[in-house]
Amino acid sequence: MNSSPMPAANPQQATKATDMHDRPSANFAHKLDQTQALLHSAARDFTPLKQASSLGAEDVVITDLINRLQLPIPVFVLDTGALHAETVALLERLQAFSSTPVEVYQPQRAAVLNFVRHPGQAAIYRSASERQACCQIRKLEPLGRALTGQRAWITGLRRAQSNARAEVQAVQADAQNGVALTKINPLVEWTWGDVWHYIATHQVDYNPLHDQFFPSIGCAPCTRAISLGEDFRAGRWWWENASAKECGLHAPSVQPPAHPTLTGVTS
Ligand code: ADX
Ligand code: SF4
Repeated sequence: MNSSPMPAANPQQATKATDMHDRPSANFAHKLDQTQALLHSAARDFTPLKQASSLGAEDVVITDLINRLQLPIPVFVLDTGALHAETVALLERLQAFSSTPVEVYQPQRAAVLNFVRHPGQAAIYRSASERQACCQIRKLEPLGRALTGQRAWITGLRRAQSNARAEVQAVQADAQNGVALTKINPLVEWTWGDVWHYIATHQVDYNPLHDQFFPSIGCAPCTRAISLGEDFRAGRWWWENASAKECGLHAPSVQPPAHPTLTGVTS
């Protein structure tokens, strides 16, 4: 369904992302210890909680850790109906091989079809409000269902991903649909090199789009490869103003950290 002007990746240029990006920080081992400690304490103190996975590089690292540590934390994926074939195939492999349960949430079919009928899927390129309406139907409404009854959710947000995420905390208060819950970001201090060091070291299955210069992967119509020197999130909603490049899953939190015992677990 991708009718976007996304540049075609040249398979001859494809290099393994693990070869390109495996560059751990000097204190990587310490960061990994802190992340594991945070996941353990989150599982202990915040049940029920779930990991939100877009199946991007950060998220496959977190799911791998949950599986290795045998933590009782299910994973959920919002299958928007507009994901790349590579992402859908990775989801299938994750469902087949993950020991922790993998839940899939899809949008309401009637709402999707209404949008496709009017204003039409291509309206997302013409107006920010139509784009947000599509995100509401395909991502936010299913997210609300995924998080119903949860005390916390785990995400792959990292501070280095964008200026808008520079203040993200390892543990922070959040609200979805007016309901307060805690958001836990175990990779908050990891660099892109750290993420790929973990993937390479543990041979984690990842989205092959990362080998084709897609650092950040969302829906197919709204994600393109980036060029040398472009910003990490330049391939997301690239036709929109940089300040608008969020779909609403991660509205900034204005409240203090939610749980004193977890605050500062990563330093
Ligand atoms: S987005 O807001 O721009 O779409 P991004 O793709 O950077 O977010 O992902 C940040 C985090 O949001 C991911 O690490 C993951 O926790 C969550 N997330 C994003 N997309 C999905 C999805 N389709 N399903 C589940 N979680 C998601
Ligand atoms: Fe729709 Fe694009 Fe948002 Fe996906 S990212 S829900 S296709 S507007």
